[in-house]
Amino acid sequence: MTQEADILLYHIGQLLTMDGSEGPVKGQNMSKLDVLEDGAVAIKDGKVIAVGKTHDLKHIEAKEKIDCQGKLVTPGLVEPHTHLVFGGSREHEMALKQQGVPYLDILKQGGGILSTVQSTRETPEEELLEKARFHLNRMMSYGITTMEAKSGYGLDYETEMKQMRVAKQLQEEHKLDVVLTFLGAHAIPENYKDDPDTFLNEMIAMLPDIKEKNLAEFVDIFCETGVFSVEQSREYLQKAKESGFEVKIHADEINPLGGAEMAAEVGAISADHLVGTSDKGIQMLAENNVIATLLPGTSFYLGKEKHARARDMIEAGVSVALSTDFNPGSSVTENLQFIMNLAALNLKMTPEEIWHAVTVNAAHAIGRGDQAGIIAVGRAADIVIWDASNYLYIPYHYGVNHVNTVLKNGEKVFE
Ligand code: NIG
Ligand code: FE
Repeated sequence: MTQEADILLYHIGQLLTMDGSEGPVKGQNMSKLDVLEDGAVAIKDGKVIAVGKTHDLKHIEAKEKIDCQGKLVTPGLVEPHTHLVFGGSREHEMALKQQGVPYLDILKQGGGILSTVQSTRETPEEELLEKARFHLNRMMSYGITTMEAKSGYGLDYETEMKQMRVAKQLQEEHKLDVVLTFLGAHAIPENYKDDPDTFLNEMIAMLPDIKEKNLAEFVDIFCETGVFSVEQSREYLQKAKESGFEVKIHADEINPLGGAEMAAEVGAISADHLVGTSDKGIQMLAENNVIATLLPGTSFYLGKEKHARARDMIEAGVSVALSTDFNPGSSVTENLQFIMNLAALNLKMTPEEIWHAVTVNAAHAIGRGDQAGIIAVGRAADIVIWDASNYLYIPYHYGVNHVNTVLKNGEKVFE
């Protein structure tokens, strides 16, 4: 019996479906990767309708047949942590970095995040939109089909709302799926320097409005020395949960404060960065099913010698995801493929673990485990064809874009 499809991808050298796990893939299971050789995928109405070997899908009549000529095919990449919407840029900080001025010192002097806050406040909404769209398009060209975007460069009602409206607009108009996070608690603005608690209360007061306008699904906070303490973060995130949001946290990025433990206590969906996380923190992430989103691009860009303990996390049974942390200060790249190289080199993750971390686990880290990150019948056809014959190749050949074609909901959005 023939079956009709819009597109048939066939002669796939290696097909990674990443399918097979109910939830995020934990610990050692991340090293088990099923590779289908000479695979094929049929797509109709934007969805996958069949997956198998090329000869198993012979009965399918497709309007368009794509001979993958032995190339690697995977799910579209999922990017679970970005600061997408911001005004200006901070190339002038490069010289300070070269002189060894620490990231948190630049922030203390009113630079860093606070300098981007200034430019974001000054940038008209339309311009912010255009700029964010540009970065989003670039992400798509690197194989990302679903991503998260945080606010956090407003630190006041008006500008945070402006940033979130921009992200929401992109969520509505852009081919790529965008998931929204409110990061009003990203830094302490100058005028609240001596009274961060009042500032946090102001951010909390925004939550009903954000909920009503559907401007964010997650709430995040930067828990760090000189920013928000573990106690402040715990209380803030608990209030966010009471207001009906799921929570995430920038935890132990620079100093080991116990952010991972706190993320586990409050039941965060993910804890992100985790460079300084303790043994107990790792254990608690595993026991409480908090996904560890690691951002090796940030450690690289900040010139840190210390890296997140991915090996210990995986051994302890934690589900690990990877992200660019795309932002204008601590990680200026949209290239998640480069992050895969860094995960191999600096986090010592295996290629099998890395592929789980940028697909299925990243999707679960932003509440999209039921929609993104795998290739399976009935799921959206979010698929990347790579200019590579095998999955080992992407974390190996660094600094360039290996994408051949990106399909989003079965549509070619980049080739
Ligand atoms: O994840 N740490 C806080 N936020 C970002 C950096 C933002 C910036 O420097 O503009 C991060 O590293
Ligand atoms: Fe971040």
